[in-house]
Amino acid sequence: MWDLEFPRPGRTIRRTPRRPHKKEKPVEAALETPALIVDLDAVRRNIARMAAHAAEAGIKLRPHGKTHKSPIFGRMQLAAGAVGLCCQKVGEAQILVEGGIGDILVTNEIVAPRALARLADLSRFAKIRTVADNAQGIDWIADAAHAAGVEIGVLVDCDLGHGRTGVAEPAAAVALGRQIATTPGLRFDGLQAYHGTVQHVHGFAARAAAVAAANAALARFIAAFEAAGLPPAIVSGAGTGSFALQAAAGYTEWQCGTYIFMDKEYRDIGDEAGGAYQPFEQALWVLATVNSTHGPTRVVVDAGLKSLSLDGGLPEPVDLPGWKFAFGGDEHGKLLRDAAHAAPAPAPALGSQLRLLPGHGDTTINLHDAYEIFEGGKHVATWPVAARGRVK
Ligand SMILES: Cc1ncc(COP(=O)(O)O)c(C=O)c1O
Repeated sequence: MWDLEFPRPGRTIRRTPRRPHKKEKPVEAALETPALIVDLDAVRRNIARMAAHAAEAGIKLRPHGKTHKSPIFGRMQLAAGAVGLCCQKVGEAQILVEGGIGDILVTNEIVAPRALARLADLSRFAKIRTVADNAQGIDWIADAAHAAGVEIGVLVDCDLGHGRTGVAEPAAAVALGRQIATTPGLRFDGLQAYHGTVQHVHGFAARAAAVAAANAALARFIAAFEAAGLPPAIVSGAGTGSFALQAAAGYTEWQCGTYIFMDKEYRDIGDEAGGAYQPFEQALWVLATVNSTHGPTRVVVDAGLKSLSLDGGLPEPVDLPGWKFAFGGDEHGKLLRDAAHAAPAPAPALGSQLRLLPGHGDTTINLHDAYEIFEGGKHVATWPVAARGRVK
């Protein structure tokens, strides 16, 4: 068990002023909560593990920066061999470029004139690519590139069945590829092929079947581009839940994001043996303080909707076996003892701190200004969630 240097459940923070005992940590050492805490050792292992998977498959890694929104984590990924980063928004790209990341794929359709102007401007300082699924959209990217005097690499966004962005028909995708290849200021760089929903299919067999269907769709796109004389130099896609099943699907680079921290939603999709999905370690939690107690079966913590997203399900109080998180409002979370549990932990004391594993990491991270970084179990640094809130 990871031994954190903050008061653990059951350890009451002493309030009466007195000289601290030599071995006792002063109360001031406790972090203010709610705090987004990260086990940097586990992050390092996750980064190395994914780099090894990609190397073994002979596929480049372009991790998705939408997860961490941080040039520091991005640079750690580059140092481990990643070719660049992905992000969803131009605002995120700006933060990553400012933080020294020189090669970025914006994996989302950018159509607003001001956003395109910012994208083109950024291309003067870094290698920037984006994606398109519409002829008009391609013209708008070209207009912005022309106005800024830059060339922008564009990938045709292919829909493998996700039903979000992307062109569903290979012939239509090829037509867009031709348009990009013949438009001054643009460079046809290949295909984006990301299928989001297959990542989270529960049960290995069902997920493998869903990914196989996506892979078959991708094969049709690649064949159509090759037949048209436009072989894609880049085929970019895949994520934390599907990459292992997409090693031989034609991808040249993987866009996985969540693997750096993992979250409860991913843990629960299940592995081949029917256990938890944990090719990577849990490395991120929200630390909360018990700020109200109500007997042996209910306490309240200071973390609610404003510090924990609930779109990926309720968080889990991992330090308290036999307890469950229940919605408590914007600033509160309730912890309830599960009556059916054989050996539940005793109710944590007022003022004690405990970890909550978020359902969905990405959306929880975006609620916080900073990461509190732990190394060797000790709090060593505070790093900004630099692109937090960059939704434009
Ligand atoms: C286009 C795109 N690529 C890659 C990813 C990364 O997926 P994951 O965080 O599941 O690894 C996402 C996640 O939403 C995405 O939208």
